[in-house]
Amino acid sequence: MSIASTDRELRVLHLEDSELDHELMVVHLLRGGLRVKALRIDSEADFIAALAQKWDAIISDYNLPGFSGLVALDLLAASGRDVPFILVSGEIGEDTAVAAMRNGASDYLLKNNLARLVPALLHAIEATEMRQARERADRELGESQQRLRELAQHLQTSIEQERAAIAREIHDDVGGSLTALKFDLAWIARHSTSAEVTTRVNSALETVTLAIDSSKRIMHNLRPAILEQGLVAALQWITLRFEKRTGTECLLRLPRYALDFPAGVPLVAYRTAQEALTNISKHAQATRVELDLSLAGGVLSLEISDNGRGLNQDDLAKARSFGIRGLRERAGTVGGWVDLSSSPAGTTLILSVPLNLAGNADIPTHAAPDADDPSQWGGL
Ligand SMILES: Nc1ncnc2c1ncn2[C@@H]1O[C@H](COP(=O)(O)OP(=O)(O)OP(=O)(O)O)[C@@H](O)[C@H]1O
Ligand SMILES: [Mg+2]
Repeated sequence: MSIASTDRELRVLHLEDSELDHELMVVHLLRGGLRVKALRIDSEADFIAALAQKWDAIISDYNLPGFSGLVALDLLAASGRDVPFILVSGEIGEDTAVAAMRNGASDYLLKNNLARLVPALLHAIEATEMRQARERADRELGESQQRLRELAQHLQTSIEQERAAIAREIHDDVGGSLTALKFDLAWIARHSTSAEVTTRVNSALETVTLAIDSSKRIMHNLRPAILEQGLVAALQWITLRFEKRTGTECLLRLPRYALDFPAGVPLVAYRTAQEALTNISKHAQATRVELDLSLAGGVLSLEISDNGRGLNQDDLAKARSFGIRGLRERAGTVGGWVDLSSSPAGTTLILSVPLNLAGNADIPTHAAPDADDPSQWGGL
């Protein structure tokens, strides 16, 4: 709603040494249909004191005895207050007008053209208020995006902790009971004298063996035990399995020296390789895949590229696709990031994680083994 159409009273600070000119200005504003509360001041000290109050606009004469409109403009900028400032002068040269506008004045007017005053004032106030509202909205949006990012990263970490906890329960509870059951059944099978019992027991043994295999598979999917042997072993295992399962040629390049990763990094790298390979088998129609693990300049990078059909921005914007978005959030949990590039000749996904750099300071270089924290199992 425009200011003119509301009954709002505008607070105007007027820098003017002539009481007559001040009254003339007020008359112009009232005639223009505005409700105005105006204060006239004419010295630097009064201006600085008045800046402590809230104003809708400042109208300033260009030349005042011992003070000037341009100095007032500088003082306003230095105070950090965001108030529209209109410069009024008996005569104003082009250079002065340009300097004033450059220093943040909203507008300038000639004293003999005060008919422009009301529209100029309204325009200046509305433009300032709109800009402030936009800045506020941008700030709020930025804060909300930041909160969302933090929540997404927290969710990724929580998911891994929860998975590890479930895997441990399956291992300790279900796995332990099934193994005990298998021993007992084997004992019964050995000591049974009845053929009927032996048949039943052998069938039960088969079922228990299947259940043990299933619980191992579920545990592995929840939290790959191979990672306990290190990222390199896990990547070797996952590429071999991918090649076997899909028949796609898969080459893994590794650094020649041993790597020591901060806690959390191997799991993030492993999940990245896992999702990238799943995507390749689901979407890429590739015939060759390369994984490249390297460390250069303190930055660990894991590059997964395929020679498939490539992807475009629309693919990444799919509402129900969370794989790549999840990878970005996951990378953020260890201070890293994901780059994705693609052409009709294939797709490359790169995970980069600066190791032991300032941004990574909260990641311990050596995993502190904490038996009660499942996310710390195996120093991952
Ligand atoms: N290597 C690839 N080659 C070609 N297209 C790809 C490749 N990786 C991803 N895409 C495209 O990008 C889209 C988004 O991938 P993303 O992993 O985020 O989601 P998704 O695989 O569809 O679902 P999910 O949430 O289960 O991972 C895919 O739907 C696919 O169209
Ligand atoms: Mg996916």
